Amino acid sequence: MADKRKIGKSGLKVNPVGLGCMGFSHAYGAPTEKNEAISMIRKAYDMGYDFFDTAECYIGMNADGSTSYNEELVGVALRDVRKHVVIATKFGVAHGSNGLIMDSKPETIRKSVEGSLKRLGVEVIDLYYQHRIDPNIEPETVAEVMNELIKEGKIRYWGISETTEDYLRRADKVCPVSAVQNRYSMLARDNEKLFPVLEELDVALVAFSPLGNGFLTGKYNASSKFEAGVDYRSHMPQYTEEGFMTAESLMKRLDELATEKGASKGQISLAWMICKKPYIIPIPGSRKEGRLRENIGSAEVSLSEAEIAELDELLDKLDMPVYGQKK
Ligand SMILES: NC(=O)c1ccc[n+]([C@@H]2O[C@H](COP(=O)([O-])OP(=O)(O)OC[C@H]3O[C@@H](n4cnc5c(N)ncnc54)[C@H](OP(=O)(O)O)[C@@H]3O)[C@@H](O)[C@H]2O)c1
Repeated sequence: MADKRKIGKSGLKVNPVGLGCMGFSHAYGAPTEKNEAISMIRKAYDMGYDFFDTAECYIGMNADGSTSYNEELVGVALRDVRKHVVIATKFGVAHGSNGLIMDSKPETIRKSVEGSLKRLGVEVIDLYYQHRIDPNIEPETVAEVMNELIKEGKIRYWGISETTEDYLRRADKVCPVSAVQNRYSMLARDNEKLFPVLEELDVALVAFSPLGNGFLTGKYNASSKFEAGVDYRSHMPQYTEEGFMTAESLMKRLDELATEKGASKGQISLAWMICKKPYIIPIPGSRKEGRLRENIGSAEVSLSEAEIAELDELLDKLDMPVYGQKK
């Protein structure tokens, strides 16, 4: 197993690839059957995953009409190995009929933390992220609540998801931030602009959607069908005919490197970020045993500085729209 990496100032150490658990309940079609999901998350631990990502709002509707609470699946799956894993969850977002509702009012956070502790079945949350910035609440206010929750022993460390540099700096002054969880992949490199501040403040970049929502594995094509409404790949720009055409040169290069290194394309795309900076921790999500194994195997694939620079040069020319981002 590759050397562990530090989650910023927290000092918590985890394997270089974590597991995004969202897909078991949310955003990638119908939720996985409960026992199957629990068994798969547990298998992931047995494979070497020790950093698990979930959120209060990762919920979906099971086939029988009941709710799939992702935090519950994670909590049950990891109950007997609790001491050996780092569990991260998030507050501050709810899904409304017109999209995301951001709410980081102190009283809402307090309610959320109690709910997450209960659903996870843990005494303390290792890493608690603000899921999205709430435009109505100052970062200092949120950070002060984090200070209180740490003092009360409800959370150990905190992070911010989809943060800006300014927000991070202001929040970090009040309560030290350990991790930023932003979108980062070969298809979404905008957050590289945060590298200097992450280095200065000793903050880890936990990369969400690191496989470009599966696209970079090369296992999908323009005829792949995703269920509208429950699978957000159905309206992602990379999964259009144009998206596949735009990425042709990249996929060809990934294929060559994969052959050279005896790896898969998806592994090369994760190794590209793992080898780029020691503080980047991708959290790819999968519900399939073989893929979980493949993804964690990326930590064993080595790319040189020159190979990373060459890939970056190719990516600089890639004009792929990023999901949810205006051009
Ligand atoms: N903070 C935030 O706002 C935010 C937003 C999005 C996601 N996240 C977190 O980040 C995690 C990962 O992001 P993500 O799930 O959106 O994107 P991702 O990890 O880039 O891609 C996941 C998709 O790729 C497929 N996949 C994974 N490994 C594969 C492989 N080896 N071969 C072929 N297909 C593969 C999965 O399908 P199968 O499951 O069928 O294998 C799934 O559809 C989430 O689980 C969640 O915890 C956070």
